[in-house]
Amino acid sequence: MDWHAARAALEWQVEMGVTEAISDAPINRFEQVATPAKVPVAAARPVSDALVAQQDAIDPVAVAEAAARGAGDLAALQDAMAAYPHCELQKGARNLVFCDGIAGARVMIIGEAPGREEDRVGKPFVGRAGKLLDRMLAAIDLGRDRDADAAVYITNVLPWRPPQNRDPKPDEMAMTLPFLKRHIALAQPDLLVVMGNISCQALLGKRGITRLRGQWTEAVGRPVLPMFHPAYLLRNPAAKREAWADLLDLQARLHKKKA
Ligand code: URA
Repeated sequence: MDWHAARAALEWQVEMGVTEAISDAPINRFEQVATPAKVPVAAARPVSDALVAQQDAIDPVAVAEAAARGAGDLAALQDAMAAYPHCELQKGARNLVFCDGIAGARVMIIGEAPGREEDRVGKPFVGRAGKLLDRMLAAIDLGRDRDADAAVYITNVLPWRPPQNRDPKPDEMAMTLPFLKRHIALAQPDLLVVMGNISCQALLGKRGITRLRGQWTEAVGRPVLPMFHPAYLLRNPAAKREAWADLLDLQARLHKKKA
């Protein structure tokens, strides 16, 4: 069984409610004798000390910043992210989820992180929340596969799915932020829509989407509109009223800027 198949089997068991691993035959752990590995301590220590010192000397955020800076276009940025070795999330993800839509679109949408479907397909917002996002965009004549002014470009704060869709940890966000900022600089949108708390935290440095939504602000030199995340709207349909108001505001802003 390969690594991904083993992980998928384990995830399935966790989702089915399995909480203990029980083998075919009983194991009497009281009878098991601890057999410490026979490592010649004196020989092993200098190597491991050196390794620890080497790892401590690495600043993962500085490495991400340098890699992001060095990427001259979106393809190079995607390659740099795929080659970035310091984010543990990458090891558990099937795919790097980089983008969808049209690079160069006026609107860039920034979600949180890939879920199960996005991880499987390798594109952002392809699951239930993504379907709702597409309907929301279509309601104001935007779409990820439309031309020119009607196009959007979509990415996430995190390019790798966190295990069990947990919230990203602060160090994971700090490592991926330089890539996100470079992504925005290379895609050159007129404005950003940040969806949900994680995206607000990453780009605006604050949470509280209920307060922040609908309030235009600025980040990375561009106008930013915080909005409810479509996954939140699926759980709280009553909030679609506010989301609709925000979509109309976005549409008005796009028309005003063009004129
Ligand atoms: N939620 C997100 O924030 N991004 C995705 O790509 C999918 C779900």
